[in-house]
Amino acid sequence: MNEMIVRRAEERDVKAMAYLDTLCFAAPWSETSFRQEVTANNLALYLVSEIDGALTGYAGVWAIVDEGHITNVAVHPDCRRQGIARALMQVLIRSCEEAGILRQTLEVRPSNEAALRLYKSFGFREAGRRKGYYEDNGEDALIMWRDGENPETGGQ
Ligand SMILES: CC(C)(COP(=O)(O)OP(=O)(O)OC[C@H]1O[C@@H](n2cnc3c(N)ncnc32)[C@H](O)[C@@H]1OP(=O)(O)O)[C@@H](O)C(=O)NCCC(=O)NCCS
Repeated sequence: MNEMIVRRAEERDVKAMAYLDTLCFAAPWSETSFRQEVTANNLALYLVSEIDGALTGYAGVWAIVDEGHITNVAVHPDCRRQGIARALMQVLIRSCEEAGILRQTLEVRPSNEAALRLYKSFGFREAGRRKGYYEDNGEDALIMWRDGENPETGGQ
């Protein structure tokens, strides 16, 4: 059976992360941005998932004082619905909580049903909207927050 590994992202992952982004987002981040995030941003934690040595997904968070700002979660289109995003989120949130960061926030498109369901299953709740946030189509962003007192760390 193919085993999934979740581990901290390293510089050697940057190219594959940037490629994955082109498959997942309308406005993907560049390799340079990922390199900066992974190697130079002291506030950032990035995780990657691997199956048989191939990168299948990543997730990132910025620790801003006592808040975790989740930057992105992405899973390769061929590898979805296998629990990879759930595994990445579990480790990401656990890492935040272990560092005393009990509240996490993120932005998501209201049309992104898959991501919304994922986040809600971890206890994220809608807390506001940023009008016209996404430049590609002018879609609003939902702002979601999760409070570490919520007992849903493990999802489901
Ligand atoms: C959103 C995304 C990260 C989910 O990744 P994934 O590995 O397929 O998700 P998982 O298999 O771990 O699913 C976890 C939960 O998310 C929800 N979910 C995932 N895909 C879904 C879909 N297509 N439709 C509805 N719910 C979905 C479900 O609640 C699921 O739990 P379940 O399988 O027990 O029903 C993936 O679809 C993706 O990369 N999308 C493009 C990038 C993106 O939009 N990222 C979020 C930016 S805010």
